[in-house]
Amino acid sequence: MSEKFEPNIVAFLCNWCSYAGADLAGTSRIQYPANLKIIRVMCTGRVNPLFIVNAFQQGADGVLVSGCHPGDCHYMEGNYYARRRFSLIRELLEYIGIDPRRIHMSWVSASEGAKWKDVVEKVVAEAREAGPFDQFRRNKINW
Ligand code: FES
Repeated sequence: MSEKFEPNIVAFLCNWCSYAGADLAGTSRIQYPANLKIIRVMCTGRVNPLFIVNAFQQGADGVLVSGCHPGDCHYMEGNYYARRRFSLIRELLEYIGIDPRRIHMSWVSASEGAKWKDVVEKVVAEAREAGPFDQFRRNKINW
C-alpha cells in the first residue's frame, strides 16, 4: 500500500453532550482528524447494537459511541443502558473476530472540546493500527 491508510470511523454522538463537544472543538478551532462520519442521536441509549454491526457491514473501519458522562444523561439513564449494551456488543464482536481497537465508547460533555480531540485522535490511531476492515462488508458506500 503506497498511500497512508485513512480509516473511516462512524461516530454515534448524543445530541446534548458529545455532539455539542465536537461542535465546541470546531468553533474553538481545535484541530482533530477528519476521519469521522458523525451520526447524531438524541441519546446514546438510542444506539441499537445493530447500528454498530451495520456500520461495519457498510465499510466502517471503526465505530465510536459517545455521550454524556454517567449521571448527566438528559434522559436520566439512557447512557447507563448504552454502557451495558456496548460492553456486551464489544465482547460479542471481539468473540467473532473484530479487533477491539475498532470499537470505542467515550463520555464527552458539551464543554470538553479538548477532550473530544483526544478521543478522536485515539480512536483514529487505533483504527489505523488495526488496518482496513472488510471482513463484514456487504455494501460499498462512497465515503
Ligand atoms: Fe447524552 Fe443520554 S442524553 S447520553
